[in-house]
Parts: sequence; C-alpha cells; structure tokens
Amino acid sequence: MRKPIIAGNWKMNNTIVEGQALVSDILNRELNESVEAVICVPFTFLQTASKMVDGNKIKLGAQNMHWEEKGAYTGEISPLMLNELNVEYVIIGHSERRQYFNETDKTVNMKTISALSHNITPIVCVGESLQERENDSYKELIEDQVRKAFEGISTEDAKKTVIAYEPIWAIGTGRTASSEQAEEICQLIRNVLTSLYDEKTAQAIRILYGGSVKPENIKELMAMENIDGALVGGASLKADDFVQLINY
Ligand code: 13P
Repeated sequence: MRKPIIAGNWKMNNTIVEGQALVSDILNRELNESVEAVICVPFTFLQTASKMVDGNKIKLGAQNMHWEEKGAYTGEISPLMLNELNVEYVIIGHSERRQYFNETDKTVNMKTISALSHNITPIVCVGESLQERENDSYKELIEDQVRKAFEGISTEDAKKTVIAYEPIWAIGTGRTASSEQAEEICQLIRNVLTSLYDEKTAQAIRILYGGSVKPENIKELMAMENIDGALVGGASLKADDFVQLINY
C-alpha cells in the first residue's frame, strides 16, 4: 500500500519568526500518523525548522536544489547542504520555477537524479497551463514531462520518487480540478510509469495532486484510486487548514 503524503509548499512565505509560530502551532496538535506530513519551507528557515521537527511527526522538505554538490553557481543550494539539515524531500520543477526561472525537463531530470543519489526524496512536479488544456495537447505534454523526468532513473530509484500533478490553471486560483479530472491525469501518469518500468513499480510510486487543495475538497480527492496525497500551497500556511488536511 502507498502511504499518503500531505506536503505543504510554503513558497516564498514566512520569515523565521513567522515560520516558528506556524510550526509550533502544527506540532501542538494531534496528527494522523498514517499520513506522511511534510513541510517544504524557504531555505532561510530550514535550519530552524530542522531543529523543531527533529524526531517529530513532520518531515522537512526544500523547494528546489541544484544538481551539483558544489561549485561556481551563485545563489544556488546543493544537495549536500540539504543533507546537513536533515532535509528528506525536495520539490523539483514546480511550475513556478519552470515559468519564472527557466527550469526545463532536462534540469528537472538532472535534479531528480541528484536528489535520489543524495537520499532526498524528489517530489517532481508536472502539469499543463490553461492554454495547453484548452488546445487538447495536454495529455501528450504531461506524458512527455514524466518520461523526461525519469530518464536514466533505475527501477529501484523510481519507486522512491514522488510525482505531483499540478494543473497550472488550478494553482492559487481557487479553481480546483474536479476529483475526476485529477484522477484521470494521475492514472495517465501511472500508465506512463507502467510503460517506462512495470506494473509493480508503477503501483509503488506515489502520485500527488496539487492546485487549490483545501479542507473542503481533500476527502474527495483522496478517495480516488490513483491520488496518493496532496501538494498544498495556500492552505499549508494556516495551521488549522493544514492540520485538517493531514487528518482528512
Ligand atoms: P495552491 O494550493 O495555493 O493552489 O498551490 C498549489 C501549489 O502550487 C503547491 O505546490
């Protein structure tokens, strides 16, 4: 069975002081232990967060990383730096990074390989824009994103990888994909994984949905066969909402 993941993507939100308040608020509550709860916080908050969640019920994630271990890459953060802070997850290729910071399928692939080789679980994001959705080519686009992300990745490593399907038109817009729409694409992703690997491997990989996930729609989404969790933006910034999502 695939263990569900509820991962919060804080994006560029919360100073250290604000982050501390939010994490203590979350840690003070009862959390469903059969769900893997993850917070992907800004780099500046990782060290503090890593002390707060140490041995505790929430796991720590970063929102990006470089594929190299060190070197002349001004402004970048390496997998070794994340290892030092007990970071267990890293979001790779979020649509905002693809859109504003020129990330490509190629860099997503290099980062995914690097994360896996440093024992950090990559959460690889794929998804289509509204325009792509409307001209009907989006299914091939998503298949292509998945194939390219997994290039050169062994079966054993593929099983450790997490995929997040995030339709761009549903991010921060309040316009959620219906649970059927989300399930359709998560199933398509699993079919691509079956063709790349085999049925058993594809069944082991966790696929999350992201895009305006909130307490009101989590149950419906989680009831879908191929949706194994959520990558949550806005609702992960409020302890009440995030805890409700974990305890769906
Ligand atoms: P929202 O939940 O705010 O729509 O953001 C989704 C997202 O981009 C998570 O990575």
